[in-house]
Amino acid sequence: MTTREHWGSRLGFVMAAAGSAVGLGNIWRFPYTAGENGGGAFLLIYLGIIAVFGVSVLLAEIVLGRVTQRNPVGAFKQLGGPVWALAGLLGVITGFVILSFYIVVAGWTLAYVGFSTTGAVSSTDPAVLESQFGAFVGGTWAPLGYAAVFMVLVAVTVAGGIGRGIERANKVLMPLLFLLLIALAVRALTLPGGGAGVAFLLQPDFSKVSGATFSAALAQAFFSLSLGMGTMITYGSYLGRHDRLGVASGAIISLDVLAAMLAGLVIMPVVFAFGFSPSAGAGLTFITLPAAFAAMPGGTLIAPAFFLLLAVAALTSALSILEPAISWLTDERGWSRPRTVWACALLCFALGVPSSLSMGAADLTLFGRTFFDTMDFAATGVMLPVGALLTSIFVGWFWGHRALVELADTPGADPWWSRAWLLILRFIAPPALVLILLQSTGVI
Ligand code: PHE
Repeated sequence: MTTREHWGSRLGFVMAAAGSAVGLGNIWRFPYTAGENGGGAFLLIYLGIIAVFGVSVLLAEIVLGRVTQRNPVGAFKQLGGPVWALAGLLGVITGFVILSFYIVVAGWTLAYVGFSTTGAVSSTDPAVLESQFGAFVGGTWAPLGYAAVFMVLVAVTVAGGIGRGIERANKVLMPLLFLLLIALAVRALTLPGGGAGVAFLLQPDFSKVSGATFSAALAQAFFSLSLGMGTMITYGSYLGRHDRLGVASGAIISLDVLAAMLAGLVIMPVVFAFGFSPSAGAGLTFITLPAAFAAMPGGTLIAPAFFLLLAVAALTSALSILEPAISWLTDERGWSRPRTVWACALLCFALGVPSSLSMGAADLTLFGRTFFDTMDFAATGVMLPVGALLTSIFVGWFWGHRALVELADTPGADPWWSRAWLLILRFIAPPALVLILLQSTGVI
C-alpha cells in the first residue's frame, strides 16, 4: 500500500476546506435565498444554525476522516462495519448528483465572464437580459460546451493529487477570491442608494419568518459548509493524526460566513441602488445583476470580475465534490488516480447533460420538475440532510465517548466544548434534521 498523501500544512487544509465551503452556495444561492426569506431575519437564523449544527457536524466529519485516514466509505466501514459503509456510499453518490448540476451552473458563469467582457449582456432592462439568459441556457451545445470545459478544469486539478493539485489551486485561488469580493463590496457599498441593500440584509423582518425559513436556513447552511456527503471526511483524512481541529474548524466556518456576507454586501446594494427586486430567485445573479452592472459607472470592468469570482468559487468547491469518489475508488479499489478522475468526470458530465438540456432545449421532466430541479432537490433537499443525519447519529450514538477522546487535541484533554458537541450530535441535530427532511419533502 502506498502512503496516504497529506496536506503540506494546516493552513493548506484550511484553505482547501474553505475553498470547498465557499462556492456557488455563498455567492449565487445565499443572496437570493436571503432575499426570498426576509433578509436580516433569515441571516440571524442562519448564523444561529451554523453556530450550533454547522460547527458540530463539520467537526464530526473532519474527526471521522482524521482518525481513520480513509475515504467516507472506508471511514464508516472501519468504525461501524459494512452496514454503516452504506452511509459513506450515499455520500459518494450524492457527490455525483451535485456535481452533475453544479458544472452546468459553473459553465454559465464561465460563459458570462465572456458575455460581460464583450458587452453582450449590457442591457439595463432585466426583461431583455431574462430573454438572453433563457436563450443561452435553453440552447443545446453552448451550455454543454461550457460545462465540459469546466469539468475538464476540475479533472485536471484533481488528477494532480492533494498537495500539488487541490492544495496548490486553493492557495492561489482563495486569496484571489477574497480580494475580488472585497473590491466589489467596496464598490457596491459606495453606490448612491446602496444603503437600502445593506439595511435589507442586516435589519430583521420577523413577519417573514415561518417554519419554512428555518428549513431553508438549515439546507443553505449544510450545502454551504459542504456537509452531509463526506467531503469533509475526505479532506480530514489528509490531515495528520495529531493536527488540531478546533482552530481549523473555526477558521473554515468564519471564512464561509464572511464570504456569504460579503457576497450579500456586493449584491444587495447593487440591486437596491438600481431599484430591482431582491427576491428575484435563482435569476438574481444572471439577470438582475448584469442590468445593475450596466447602469453602474465602471460596470464594464466590474461585471466580468464578478463572474470570474463566481467561476473561481465554483472551481474550488467542485474539486471537493469530486474528491470523495476519487478517494474511495483509489483507496478501496486500488484504481490509479488519473484514470479514476477521468472516468468519474465523464460520468458526471454524462449525468449533467440532461440537466443542462432540461433548461429549455428539451422537455425533460422527472417527478413533476425539470431534470435540473429534480437533481438539485434530490441532492440538497434530501440526500445531504440524510447524510448529515446519519453522520450525527453515527458519531453521537455509535461512536459516542470514543469520539470525544479522538476530538481532544491532546490525548486525555477534554475541552468543555467537546461535551457540548456530543450533546448536540445526540439530541439536537437528529430531530432538527428529521424536521427539515419532513419539511422539504412536503410531509409537514
Ligand atoms: N459548499 C459548496 C458551495 O457552497 C457546495 C458543496 C456542497 C461542496 C457539498 C462540497 C460538498 O457552493
